[in-house]
Amino acid sequence: MQAGLGETVEQVLERVSRQFEQAELFYGHGTDNPWDEAVYLVFSALGIPFDCDDSMLQKTLTQEEQAHVDALVRARIDARIPVAYLVREAWFAGLPFTVDERVLIPRSPLAELILKDFEPLLARPPASVLDLCTGSGCIGIATALAFPEARVELADISADALALARENVIRHGVQERVSVHQSDLFASLAGRYDLILSNPPYVSQEEIDELPQEYRHEPALGLHSQDNGLAIPLQILREAANYLSEDGLLIMEVGYSHEALAERLPGVPFLWLEFEHGGEGLFALTAGQLREASPLLG
Ligand SMILES: C[S@@+](CC[C@H](N)C(=O)[O-])C[C@H]1O[C@@H](n2cnc3c(N)ncnc32)[C@H](O)[C@@H]1O
Repeated sequence: MQAGLGETVEQVLERVSRQFEQAELFYGHGTDNPWDEAVYLVFSALGIPFDCDDSMLQKTLTQEEQAHVDALVRARIDARIPVAYLVREAWFAGLPFTVDERVLIPRSPLAELILKDFEPLLARPPASVLDLCTGSGCIGIATALAFPEARVELADISADALALARENVIRHGVQERVSVHQSDLFASLAGRYDLILSNPPYVSQEEIDELPQEYRHEPALGLHSQDNGLAIPLQILREAANYLSEDGLLIMEVGYSHEALAERLPGVPFLWLEFEHGGEGLFALTAGQLREASPLLG
């Protein structure tokens, strides 16, 4: 993997993209092909904005820049570290978030709902929002920016994740309205929320064992849930009604565990959401539906 000397940005992109293709990387943390992955790594490493004009592509890299990019490319290929961790930045709902190995890399299809202000799911803008299992804080912070009047709480069991979520709260200047709470699901929360959003862990150990190497850099706490992936989602379903306002709404992601969940709870009227830009396994349930379903939830 020898770099040519004095390459332009365009030449680096072409070379890195070829290297990624030959290395048969797994793409699932922000891009889905070698070229976009190369752009993500090279532009971020060099501090080039993604919307730069084409003249930037003709810029020649300094030796230091070349060495920096090549070290990251080696780490991406040899250690299969996702680009987001290498450049400490991931994009979610069009916004940049600081990330590292303390948090899952943001990728929830919930971004699409946030960008549409959750239309047509909400009757009015929510005054209070909970992002449960917040990780980097991406879902709650993006929602706070979509609803400038809303008060938002970010909750996670991991103190490490919350330290990073705090950094992102400050990065986006929403500390007046967005607070951070360490809590095992709802255990340390006392509020009533108009909207509860959650992308909790929902992956079984069996599935984790089969995931590509890239996922092993993510915190296991962010992925793993007992009972075939369903333990944490079921616990949230059992408790959410107690924390929702009278006409509040729960929106939760369970990814590919959605079939297992629907099979486990055939009487629960999950509204499975559809996405233009891909993604599955997100449902909405109103507080009323959760209260009615409570005998079925155990
Ligand atoms: C799938 S990650 C989601 C992170 C972020 N919401 C996102 O979409 O990128 C799940 C998060 O749940 C947290 N978590 C795991 N078990 C938890 C629990 N019992 N109570 C609260 N948070 C928990 C993990 O620390 C992790 O940050």
